[in-house]
Amino acid sequence: MRRMRRRRRRWRKGRVAALLLIAVVIAAGVGFLIRSSVTKYDSVNEEMGEYVVQANEGILAKDTGEKMKKSLYVPRKIDKSKKLIAFTFDDGPMKGRTERVLKALEKEDFRATFFMLGQNAKLYPDVVEQVYKSGNEVAGHSWDHPLLTKMSSEQIKNQQDKMNDALVKACGSKAAIFRPPYGGYNDNVKKIIDTPLILWNIDTLDWKTRSAPATEKAILDKAQDGDIILMHDIHEPTVQAVEHVLPILKERGYEVCTVSELLEAKGVQVKKGDVVISAHQIR
Ligand code: NI
Repeated sequence: MRRMRRRRRRWRKGRVAALLLIAVVIAAGVGFLIRSSVTKYDSVNEEMGEYVVQANEGILAKDTGEKMKKSLYVPRKIDKSKKLIAFTFDDGPMKGRTERVLKALEKEDFRATFFMLGQNAKLYPDVVEQVYKSGNEVAGHSWDHPLLTKMSSEQIKNQQDKMNDALVKACGSKAAIFRPPYGGYNDNVKKIIDTPLILWNIDTLDWKTRSAPATEKAILDKAQDGDIILMHDIHEPTVQAVEHVLPILKERGYEVCTVSELLEAKGVQVKKGDVVISAHQIR
């Protein structure tokens, strides 16, 4: 009797060890599968890519927060299985209206890029700060909206420097991407502006129609995965259109994001001198 019990105990120990081993092997296998299904990022610029990978994998280094404060980029998790479109708002910020756009974005957990004029950033530094702190992207659109192609190198540089000065004063950082006013650029603009130039592939014509339904229709009829949509947060009908259209886009399976998030998610690398029309079209 005793012998048998001892044997049985030994056998039980063996069985437990075997089960443990099997469990470890299965866990390792599942771990490997999960890791290999994690999307590989090609970074927009070296720092950005690193932060996004770290954020998505939950392995943010201790000094990442400090490093990120130096950049205008706030990473967040993006569901890349969704159709991604970047919303961009030019010519602001504008007290009242920009904040309403921020609120509408926050409601759906969406983000957007704001191409700001330096003179407006100087006027409403608190709004710039709100855009930045809410995880949206602060971007540059010159100091006071001139056609840069008609300017000397020195004048272009002055536009960039004055704009960045106002942005730094408002939120502590320069613009990481730039949209030339009227989408006007030439070789000289590409040479002087020290970031990629971001244009758009869908113009809602909100500045022209000043109609919320027309702006909504332009977005809903045309928006496709990878698009960059042009709007202006200084116009009241645009703000209304955004408030109305965001829940509809969410329902239709879209993720509205910043330009940098869009490029990052699509694995598009851009540098100074590149002209971005959409995630699928870079000049
Ligand atoms: Ni503009």
